[in-house]
Amino acid sequence: MRLRHMRLCFELRLRAPMAPKYPSLARAAALEPAVCFCFSFEKLLSEISVKENTSKCFCTAKKTKLEAPMADTTAPDSSSPFKSDILKGKVAFITGGGSGINFGIAQALAAHGAHIAMMGRREEVLKKACEELASKFGVKTFFKAGDVRDADQCAAALKATNENFGHIDILVNGAAGNFLAPPELLSPNGFKTVIDIDLNGTFNMCRHGYQYLKASKGIIINISANLHYVGTLFQSHVSAAKAGVDALTMNLAAEWGHEGIRVNGIAPGPIGDTEGMKRLAPGEAGEKLKKLIPLQRFGSVQDIGLAAVFLCSSAASYITGETLVVDGGHWFAKPPMVPREIVEKMMAASRS
Ligand code: COA
Repeated sequence: MRLRHMRLCFELRLRAPMAPKYPSLARAAALEPAVCFCFSFEKLLSEISVKENTSKCFCTAKKTKLEAPMADTTAPDSSSPFKSDILKGKVAFITGGGSGINFGIAQALAAHGAHIAMMGRREEVLKKACEELASKFGVKTFFKAGDVRDADQCAAALKATNENFGHIDILVNGAAGNFLAPPELLSPNGFKTVIDIDLNGTFNMCRHGYQYLKASKGIIINISANLHYVGTLFQSHVSAAKAGVDALTMNLAAEWGHEGIRVNGIAPGPIGDTEGMKRLAPGEAGEKLKKLIPLQRFGSVQDIGLAAVFLCSSAASYITGETLVVDGGHWFAKPPMVPREIVEKMMAASRS
């Protein structure tokens, strides 16, 4: 490959059906083929084959289904160290509660006695999740389809939940959007979309949930991430949104503490078997990532669920404004500058 090609990144040739859905990315690809490098566009991207022609380097993506990395079997089993009735009679409202980490939180709260209400964009997903919770844990469930970006829909879902149960004690803001994208290729609307869902959505729910939580002296848990503690490539949009969520957690804790409302966050690291991991670290990338985590495994949804149970329990009654990092040490651990074998050889040589 000639030198000028060496600086080229890959061009993901947008498939014809995708271009109308993502016009600005299609434009970016057309304008800057030399530096267009996109991931997980069709949720299906792998086996990249590169071929050269005289002017540019093409990269074609072959359709292969991406699998989410599995949760590690060395994860603790699903039994809980908490008494099963510590949240008995409480009502927890969870955004994005129908799937992934948020469904894990819903399960953990229900397993400890909480009735569950959830809101999400896909009604059939919510319905199925609620049916599962009701039959598995014998709790009452309620759902209302809606988008957290729409403040009126947030208010309506909270009002309907309060009418249904008579109170709301716990609000978990888990709804989020994510995908990999280098900032120079991300459209302003793509950036705004993630800020709208993660940050503005969290504010909308807190703002409209306040009256109910004030009445119940309730609890808010904002689901964040560990991405923004460092510079995480291809995640500028999510990092900016989650940094905002963490700031909101602390500020609302300061604002509403005198009302008896506690506001905390959970910052999950890589959690196996989730949509997020399928999008962010599919296949082999996930296996490589696992080796960089001090605890050497992906988290499970149960890890996050039990963290939520702890924050909702009386054990956390003097904790507010805190974001609990549940990531196996992922964010602060760096790969070694020199491989271990070489360091061991150097040490052996220095001893001899
Ligand atoms: N890469 C780059 N840009 C993307 C993108 C991707 N994979 N997905 C969406 N965008 C951009 C679009 O190009 C569009 O910008 P444009 O109008 O300038 O082209 C903008 O974001 C909105 O896209 P759209 O598909 O209309 O938004 P949406 O509201 O339907 O969905 C998400 C946006 C982020 C929520 C979508 O990715 C999604 O539905 N994800 C599933 C849930 C999820 O992400 N879970 C994450 C768990 S961590």
